Amino acid sequence: MEKILITGATGNVGLSMLKLLADKNFADVEVVAAVRDIERAKSIEGISNCTFCHFEFDEPSSYDKALSGVTKLVLIRPNQVSDVSRYIFPFLARAEAMGVKHIVFVSIVGAERNRIFANHRTENHVKKLSVPTTILRPSLYMQNLSTLHRQDILVHDKINIPAGHGLVNYIDVRDVAEAIVAVLMNPSHEHDSYEITGPEPLDFYQIAKLFSDELGREIKYAKPSTIRFVRQKLLEKKQLLYVFTLSLLYAAARGGKMNYTNDVFKTLTGHDPRSIAEFIKENRECWIRTGNEEVKKTRRRLIRRRK
Ligand SMILES: NC(=O)c1ccc[n+]([C@@H]2O[C@H](COP(=O)([O-])OP(=O)(O)OC[C@H]3O[C@@H](n4cnc5c(N)ncnc54)[C@H](OP(=O)(O)O)[C@@H]3O)[C@@H](O)[C@H]2O)c1
Repeated sequence: MEKILITGATGNVGLSMLKLLADKNFADVEVVAAVRDIERAKSIEGISNCTFCHFEFDEPSSYDKALSGVTKLVLIRPNQVSDVSRYIFPFLARAEAMGVKHIVFVSIVGAERNRIFANHRTENHVKKLSVPTTILRPSLYMQNLSTLHRQDILVHDKINIPAGHGLVNYIDVRDVAEAIVAVLMNPSHEHDSYEITGPEPLDFYQIAKLFSDELGREIKYAKPSTIRFVRQKLLEKKQLLYVFTLSLLYAAARGGKMNYTNDVFKTLTGHDPRSIAEFIKENRECWIRTGNEEVKKTRRRLIRRRK
């Protein structure tokens, strides 16, 4: 019997994992979602075939109960938990002491090279544990476009990402979840590290065109500077470290360092990853304006004209 514990279980990747594991319904596998608010997690649509346990990285008293009997741990580090020595390492020490047999750590593209990333420090730490670990480094999530960048597209018809003419190979979090499950259920991936990308790198002019074609209105690529992007996201009260990390990744894209594709996802799962065009099509409602947003946009346009 395997018992899988997933942290960050109500987030982008975690939720996709819970849904995928529910669909797959593996025999002799118990799935436990480590969540901060059990009642809220239970009310999320589409989650079944799993149990919930209360867990907070900043609450060490929650560690042992969550880890009890766990054989496999999927470590998703929330962006908010950046002091990894204080919260992630002690949790991993308990996982090791309590007999976890395999850890899959969801890192991020470029983390092995960027010492400033919290995931870099976590990667180095998990490699030193006695527990076999697999590290996955996904490229940027398509879901950033429906979360962090949603308002810019929805209200302003703009993609505000400081990547210049650089290309990015976005991946869908559902594919990240599938890659995690593939490495989690196959011991041959223990001690390996994999970078996973989407099917093709595109620049943001091409991505804006895909949005325009799907939404039936023109979406422009604003090509902001990094400073402008950071300032705007901080005004929107987005978390500093998350915005900073993304800025570094977009700077790498601007320098041509994200312009590649690998076939790791296909090797792990046997099929191609989802394309960004599919993602936009499936989620188009997210960027369709309701009456309220139309009113807001018209009001803004009038104010701009008066100025
Ligand atoms: N965004 C990207 O493009 C990208 C690309 C590759 C890798 N990554 C990596 O992916 C990770 C984030 O994954 P994600 O996007 O799936 O996460 P997410 O959607 O931001 O969700 C964060 C999850 O962590 C939980 N959480 C927050 N604070 C917590 C705490 N103190 N204790 C326990 N749980 C807590 C949240 O629970 P609540 O529901 O209670 O808030 C939520 O389930 C980061 O390590 C990032 O570096 C991101």
